[in-house]
Amino acid sequence: MDPKETKHVSAQAAESFTTRILTANGVPAENAALISKCLVQADLRGVDTHGITRIPSYMERIRQGVLDARARPVLRQITPVVAQVDGRNGFGFIGAHMGMGRAIEMAGEYGIGFVSVKHSNHVGMLAWVVQQAVEAGMMSLVFTNSSPALPVWGGRERLMGVSPLACGAPAGEEKAFILDMAPSVAARGKIYKAARRGETIPGDWALDGEGRPTVDPHRALEGVMLPMGGPKGSALAVMMDVFSGVLSGSAFAGHVTGPYDPSRPADVGHFLVAIKPDLFMGLEEFKERMDYLYRRVVGSEKMVGVDRIYYPGEIEQITHEERLKTGIPFIQAEIDSLNREADTVGVEHLVIS
Ligand SMILES: NC(=O)c1ccc[n+]([C@@H]2O[C@H](COP(=O)([O-])OP(=O)(O)OC[C@H]3O[C@@H](n4cnc5c(N)ncnc54)[C@H](O)[C@@H]3O)[C@@H](O)[C@H]2O)c1
Repeated sequence: MDPKETKHVSAQAAESFTTRILTANGVPAENAALISKCLVQADLRGVDTHGITRIPSYMERIRQGVLDARARPVLRQITPVVAQVDGRNGFGFIGAHMGMGRAIEMAGEYGIGFVSVKHSNHVGMLAWVVQQAVEAGMMSLVFTNSSPALPVWGGRERLMGVSPLACGAPAGEEKAFILDMAPSVAARGKIYKAARRGETIPGDWALDGEGRPTVDPHRALEGVMLPMGGPKGSALAVMMDVFSGVLSGSAFAGHVTGPYDPSRPADVGHFLVAIKPDLFMGLEEFKERMDYLYRRVVGSEKMVGVDRIYYPGEIEQITHEERLKTGIPFIQAEIDSLNREADTVGVEHLVIS
């Protein structure tokens, strides 16, 4: 069988498969359903780097005892608008979902809610947290820190994480604003994906172990990711560490453990804010203004060679709608890797559409 042959899997099949594996590895059913939903949402949005292909690395962490499958995060109210979640080394998805849920409640009552999450794990694609807020009619800021992969400007060692920042705002008739970006030229997951698929990477994404630009994803994984916009990208990575790591009480300054390193708990931190959009005007007026902004952005005069201008998050929203109909494309090698996990715990394989 060709390891690069593409097959399609429905969102429902991907979700139930992931839930089966998670529950068989000790994750409580309710949490397994939520984690599966978040991962499949990434696959649906075309953020395949942060979808269900992450399952083997997450399960290895459970098997090695560095991620607690059964952990139940604990929430502590600090002030009327500030809360803290202790993730207790459980899945990042669970602590972040609980945190944003509380931030939304506080914003509903007081206009703003801020939650700091500590002792958490990899949280995947941040856009799912923003989507949680958008669905509740809230604006949001979502930051996380992550394991060292990026040098600070002028440095050559891996020190900062390729730590993403995301934010969003609901609209009226038009698409919601959803920005979700890593401060590197490309997310590190894109290098893992290219390595998995036997593909090359663009020469401006990473340096190899000797500090030379490389198109080989395996050599890139031995080196460092390049920050976007030079010193500005590495400054954003430091900012994610200040707000997610230093402030929360989690690991920071290069001490977060990566999702592919099963030797130690990750100790990731997150920073979550929800804001009520109708603080300064009525909700309808806010939504009309968001719709106007959308139309101004996508209707802007195009540069030569550009067919269409997209709003932040729009390409992913279009992909989401398409993949709900066509299914999610996986290559055979990815399906085989997932099915090996299924065999490990004796559950049914992934159902291909
Ligand atoms: N949890 C973690 O530790 C971690 C670490 C790194 C990245 N990630 C995730 O990886 C994902 C990918 O990050 P990335 O930086 O590679 O994203 P990206 O470069 O693909 O996209 C970044 C942003 O730019 C927008 N965009 C992209 N192309 C556009 C276009 N042509 N027109 C208008 N807008 C456009 C996207 O909608 C998105 O909001 C994110 O979901 C991020 O949360 C997670």
